[in-house]
Amino acid sequence: MLTFSIMEETMNKDVLKVLLSEEELNATVDRLATQINRDYASHAKRLILLGILKGSVVFMGDLMKKVDSSIVEIDFMKVSSYGSGTKSSGAVNIILDIQRKDIAECDILIVEDIVDSGRTLSYLVEYLRLKGAKSVRTCALLDKPSRREVDFNLDYVGAQIPDEFVVGYGLDYDEKYRNLPYIGILRPEVYSK
Ligand code: IMP
Ligand code: MG
Repeated sequence: MLTFSIMEETMNKDVLKVLLSEEELNATVDRLATQINRDYASHAKRLILLGILKGSVVFMGDLMKKVDSSIVEIDFMKVSSYGSGTKSSGAVNIILDIQRKDIAECDILIVEDIVDSGRTLSYLVEYLRLKGAKSVRTCALLDKPSRREVDFNLDYVGAQIPDEFVVGYGLDYDEKYRNLPYIGILRPEVYSK
């Protein structure tokens, strides 16, 4: 007869602590989708979930499955502001622009992994408004309010977290750890080496 050992939660050795488990992330995404469906279902004709590459991909994939399918479309932008370090350079560069042309008819909900200084999202909101979008709102899985450098508030927030560098569920350090199924605090030794 086969015997199965109880699976221990395997934590990456570079992760100091799990901040949000898979179960907590599921519940968080459920809650956000419920709020989004409630707010958009009655009036939006064309809701574009605009994922910001690459950090939002896992969150976007889970969230889009739970948003009312009759109105939702997806698009992506890619921006860079970080290089390979843990501190923002401050400047936002658009590497891939939104593909839709008729954005005057679109309610855009930007889907981002995490807000830190607030520069990326405040720049993108302004950019899309100037391009003529019907409405622009923002949704981020994580928010580090203590790190804010510009005045910026999210419309939908998964969880507020302390000033720690986190990885997993799409978030990286130097392109690594995006595939971890949880959000974990990265050991400082990893980036101070
Ligand atoms: P902001 O423009 O300073 O708000 O930076 C937001 C971007 O910085 C996010 O999209 C992430 O790519 C990156 N970022 C900020 N904090 C973290 C973190 O703790 N882990 C991974 N990426 C982060
Ligand atoms: Mg990012």
